[in-house]
Amino acid sequence: ANDSEMQLIRIHEYMTDLYHHILMHTKEGEGALKYLEDRGFSGDIIRREKIGIAPDMRDFTKNALSDKGFSLELAFQAGVISRNEENFSYYDRFSGRIMIPIRNHQGYIVGYTARSMDGREPKYLNTPETSIFQKRRLLYNLSDARKDIRKQDEVILMEGHLDIIKVKMTDVNNVIGLMGTALSEQHIQMLNRLASNVTLMFDGDQAGQAAQLSLGADLLEGGLNVFIISMPKGMDPDEYIEKYGAETFRDLVKNEKRHYIHFKAEHLLEESMNNDMAFSNNLKMLTDHLRHVKDQVIRERLIQHISELYKVDRKSIEQNVPDQAAAPS
Ligand code: UTP
Ligand code: MN
Ligand code: MN
Ligand code: MN
Ligand code: MN
Repeated sequence: ANDSEMQLIRIHEYMTDLYHHILMHTKEGEGALKYLEDRGFSGDIIRREKIGIAPDMRDFTKNALSDKGFSLELAFQAGVISRNEENFSYYDRFSGRIMIPIRNHQGYIVGYTARSMDGREPKYLNTPETSIFQKRRLLYNLSDARKDIRKQDEVILMEGHLDIIKVKMTDVNNVIGLMGTALSEQHIQMLNRLASNVTLMFDGDQAGQAAQLSLGADLLEGGLNVFIISMPKGMDPDEYIEKYGAETFRDLVKNEKRHYIHFKAEHLLEESMNNDMAFSNNLKMLTDHLRHVKDQVIRERLIQHISELYKVDRKSIEQNVPDQAAAPS
């Protein structure tokens, strides 16, 4: 980070400590602390992640920063306060929200995702794009997860920031998240440098499934091995851990990984069996995916699965997998 970036980072470091202090040690923070404890977040993890609360005031952050001698123009550029474009006055951006710090890959705090507790929309308000907070370049929790990712040669990717924080309480540490669900070229490059295997563990709802299917294809085409862990219907990893406990969660992570193509073959099966055109298109899509599977043994196994599920001869699948050398993607 250069000098002007470090100034924006210092604003975040200062406010994060203050928001965290208010959460842990003041009356102002009692409601939020209770909310977090009721959701199963321990004091220890709240301290480690430096979670905080932004008081429900219009001028709190603004005054705290100017009292400390920070420039409000810079604070605005950092995205921690907003500006009224009619009279150029500044006001707090995250009032009344639980502040979850987001660190860049070096471990410096560069932004927040901020949750409302009273049903105020949006549920999560994020830092806007700034010079230090670029969603297409950031992977949430990477600075913490990097060591375990390397050791295990595997990244587990999740949807929610609070899911990731809850998972860290179970000592599964190779988890990271996107900022939203957009996966950029830069993300794919970074993931490739980190590990060979990506496991997607998204919410067990329609949106989560759709995101898994679409991101999985991009990651596979990007050269990664992609696996899926399916959540029970209507649950996300945080809720799973609250309901079944850390031990059961660790077993799930250890034992329930299906290859993306296997997952997709099952997902598309019903539609394929009731619709001949879909059958043909889906089978073609699956065989096209197979060309990106570099490991011969895994590829053989997937062909076996597809041939059993779709009741087609494995020879005819093999013939249709475009040859890697002849047909690069
Ligand atoms: P979810 O609605 O599944 O939220 O959105 P969650 O993570 O389970 O949050 P809790 O448990 O209700 O607190 C998944 C992710 O989508 C993004 C956030 O990153 C969130 O973690 N999101 C969701 C937003 O950015 N803004 C929103 O208003 C909602
Ligand atoms: Mn969801
Ligand atoms: Mn969720
Ligand atoms: Mn949730
Ligand atoms: Mn392709």
